[in-house]
Amino acid sequence: MSNDRLAQLAALHTRREPIVMLTAYDFPSARIAVAGGVDVILVGDSAAMTVLGYQSTREISTDELLMLTRAVRRTAPDTPVIGDLPFGSYEASDSVAVASASRFVQEAGCDAVKLEGAGEMISRVRAIIAAGIPVFGHVGLLPQSVRTREGYKARGRDPEQALAIVADADALANAGCSAMIVEAVPSPVTALITARIGIPVIGIGAGVETGGQVLVYHDLLGFSEGRMPRFVRTYASAFGDLSAAVRIWAEDVRGGRYPSVAETYPITDEALAEVRRRLSAQ
Ligand code: KIV
Repeated sequence: MSNDRLAQLAALHTRREPIVMLTAYDFPSARIAVAGGVDVILVGDSAAMTVLGYQSTREISTDELLMLTRAVRRTAPDTPVIGDLPFGSYEASDSVAVASASRFVQEAGCDAVKLEGAGEMISRVRAIIAAGIPVFGHVGLLPQSVRTREGYKARGRDPEQALAIVADADALANAGCSAMIVEAVPSPVTALITARIGIPVIGIGAGVETGGQVLVYHDLLGFSEGRMPRFVRTYASAFGDLSAAVRIWAEDVRGGRYPSVAETYPITDEALAEVRRRLSAQ
């Protein structure tokens, strides 16, 4: 790993301490992630769905994700920040991949970038690393390849798929990746990957035998609605609590209980009398 911030992660891995990664997408979420003591922030393309309201991660543009990533970097200057190369920004060729990755470093101050998959992407990974930019791999469930809701099911539950995922992880590690996201894979398959590659394995729905865990900010804090994947543990009820707070405020406004006198700015009787006098003289 190539800079001081990434070296913090390498040190955790060396000491066999779990790496805590959380997604964040803006000033408030990055502030909360830092205050919560996470080790690394991923500005995931999950922002497409959690922040921008798209139906899939495939719809977010590089410019949209860069804007969010810059906000996170401004907020978390000492935390490793990983930029997520969005769908369509790296697949076409090595030079396209290097150009996109460079934007995340130069324009948003990322410490590394992440991309999904292996196969032809191994060449992209090598090219980005050759350009001096550390890369995090991502195997297992690859959200950028999912086209239907049913597509979000676990991967690697049959021998062929499990072997393919292990081979992808091997290839990405051999290509020089700094860490590996493993998503929605049975724990024993993740354990095989962890035992084979020397870099941190950061799991999401990939069980316990990893070098760390990542969750999506909105899932962890209960902003997300609907049925959650089985691996999501929700530690707060942000949507319920915050919408209830807004409802109470709205009721206070409608009922004349907001604002109170203490919540308004005073003006002296003399100053007000002077305003009235001048208005009536107009
Ligand atoms: O975009 C994202 O949030 C991710 C995580 C699910 C790892 O890639």
